[in-house]
Amino acid sequence: MEFNILTLCYLIASVTFILGLKMLSNPASARKGNLVAAFGMGLAIFGTIFLYRDIESGERLHNYGWIFGGLLIGAIVGTLAAKKVKMTAMPEMVSLFNGMGGACAALISLVEFNHLSKEISSGGNNEFIAAHQSTILIIALGLIIGSISFSGSMIAWGKLNGKVKDFSFTGQNILNLILLAIALSAGVWLVVDPVQGYLLYIILALSLLYGILFVMPIGGADMPVVISLLNSFTGVAAAFGGFLYDNKVMLTGGILVGAAGTLLTILMCKAMNRSLLNVLVGSFGGNKSGGGAAAGPQGAYKEISVSDAAMVMAYANKVIIVPGYGLAVAQAQHVCHELEKILNEKGVEVVYAIHPVAGRMPGHMNVLLAEADVAYEKLEEMEQANEQFKTTDVVLILGANDVVNPAAKTDPSSPIYGMPILEVEQAKTVIVNKRSMKPGYAGIENDLFFQPKTSMLFGDAKKVLQELCAEVKII
Ligand code: TAP
Repeated sequence: MEFNILTLCYLIASVTFILGLKMLSNPASARKGNLVAAFGMGLAIFGTIFLYRDIESGERLHNYGWIFGGLLIGAIVGTLAAKKVKMTAMPEMVSLFNGMGGACAALISLVEFNHLSKEISSGGNNEFIAAHQSTILIIALGLIIGSISFSGSMIAWGKLNGKVKDFSFTGQNILNLILLAIALSAGVWLVVDPVQGYLLYIILALSLLYGILFVMPIGGADMPVVISLLNSFTGVAAAFGGFLYDNKVMLTGGILVGAAGTLLTILMCKAMNRSLLNVLVGSFGGNKSGGGAAAGPQGAYKEISVSDAAMVMAYANKVIIVPGYGLAVAQAQHVCHELEKILNEKGVEVVYAIHPVAGRMPGHMNVLLAEADVAYEKLEEMEQANEQFKTTDVVLILGANDVVNPAAKTDPSSPIYGMPILEVEQAKTVIVNKRSMKPGYAGIENDLFFQPKTSMLFGDAKKVLQELCAEVKII
């Protein structure tokens, strides 16, 4: 009976994971989706703790002190970290948590091989070994992928918080391939001859080293793509854990994470118009001074004062706001919403144009604006926004740069050439707020800033928006 209830718990949990993921794809339902999946995860965890019985011995789980101690510490650390984290540091936290998932998968492999090798050394004959070779293969693969995910995520986390610097040397990619090949060969050897238990520790060391060397040369700003890839690795490693324990919910959860991480990686690369290989071995985003487009004076740009910008917007029929990474840095989302409301009161229609890779993580702008209670209907995706620019009076760009850079369409030598962009130059007037003429993530000049219809409104986004609010109010 208890087994059936546990199976039912697992089934419900699997369904909640799928529903939760589906709901995450829409900002309006994303919060609920998170809660639904968390409920399912809670059900799977507590169902296992209280209802699981070993098939052969019928024994329940023991070590409740350790289990609940771990749960309590993890819950406290996780809650505090999630509450304290700044929006701009979100990819860092995701990376750290993902690394923990990879470490868990690797530890499962170590523990389970330990159990198995005890049985082998206490008289396991050839038949016993042959019957467990597929288990050992799963253990080896889980260890390799989990360890790579752990050490790679730790390096990604270090890079994002500035503690780890990019590091590469000639032949690094070849060395990485050799390391991976040796780790896989050691895995095969272990499957063939499980008595050589030390091989497991060789696999562990090589995989950890591979994870470090694999992430080290990748540009710091490319980390979100790498984290998403490592996230899919953790999912696959967890799915191996599901095979190992014949645990359906772990298998489902792992496969969903693996698939979602892979899809997200592909989507991010596509939105940046780069291949995954280019992210992994290229230096785009890592080298801030680099870039194919000429970095240097492109001519003259003109500035606009806050009061003039306020005037232009207050008398417009339609304003499209283009948020970018700088808006998140300035934490100006609330005051941005304030400006939207003030303009609405003046009869100006205001919508937001959201580029899929604006900011530094998937959905960054959606999350940022949702935090300030901006209505979801006001967020226009790139394709819809591009259709509206022609009929728009003013585009206000807030801390965005690459996502509005026309070089993506016009300059084949540009590193962002081919990346779909927000075609803001089609609007009547373009106002760009940023602090200086410095480039954005791709490290390249933006010709938009020098076009006749563009005016630069320099300053920190939050300060400038506060001033704009005050000015528009009195018009
Ligand atoms: P960026 O091109 O990085 O430009 C951001 C601009 O914000 C900078 O030029 C900066 O100029 C300005 N800024 C910074 N702090 C500011 C502040 N306090 N107030 C006002 N402006 C500020 O950003 P974007 O247009 O959002 O493009 C995102 C880039 O990141 C793309 O190249 C994309 O491929 C890449 N990327 C995105 C992701 C995801 S998933 N979103 C992942 C990896 C990489 P100043 O310094 O002059 O102020």
